[in-house]
Amino acid sequence: MLMKRIAILVSGGGSNMQSIVDSANSGILKGFASVVLVISNKPNAYAIKRAKDKNIKSICIERKNFEEEKSFNDSILKELKNAETDIVCLAGYIRMIGRDIIKTYRGRILNIHPALLPKFGGEGMYGHYVHEAVIKAKETKSGATVHFVEEEYDAGKIIIQQEVEVFENDLPEDVAKKVLCIEHEIYPKAIKKVIEGQVVSCP
Ligand code: GRF
Repeated sequence: MLMKRIAILVSGGGSNMQSIVDSANSGILKGFASVVLVISNKPNAYAIKRAKDKNIKSICIERKNFEEEKSFNDSILKELKNAETDIVCLAGYIRMIGRDIIKTYRGRILNIHPALLPKFGGEGMYGHYVHEAVIKAKETKSGATVHFVEEEYDAGKIIIQQEVEVFENDLPEDVAKKVLCIEHEIYPKAIKKVIEGQVVSCP
């Protein structure tokens, strides 16, 4: 089987990116995929350093350098195509991804969300806001979801979901830690499922 070429879009720490890279190098994605490109919209994202450390091509594309959202997204799409990307993984990418990118990679573009979708998803639900909302709602469990990306926020078909327990005295940062831990497990698993055709975006 031909190895799939993965590009990862990031904005921050890049711990999920790292788990995908590690998995492609020596884990369940070994022989199935390789990470060929990392694109960050933030020049100071720690993810860029992680990519450099692993000798992965990394590019920063900042919104402020473009007049319009469309040309910003076109520039990302061009880099994805140049890298002959098969699968796009959003891993802590904080912007809405451009429609042309979704159209080009539909069924091959994935995102990870730190909650059990469809609960606690949608616009404005990211980072600590998610975990605060989970605690406010007195949920006894939360978790992480890997899903296909569609035009609507957090609404694409779910590929994998895994739960964590939420205890009465948990603070948002406690939940965040538990959830991030399982994110690192399920993202590579979800990618493998997609590569093997075990799950597709449309019925
Ligand atoms: C993760 O919690 C992920 O679910 C969300 O953003 C966070 C990214 O963390 N989309 P990292 O940059 O991968 O460490």
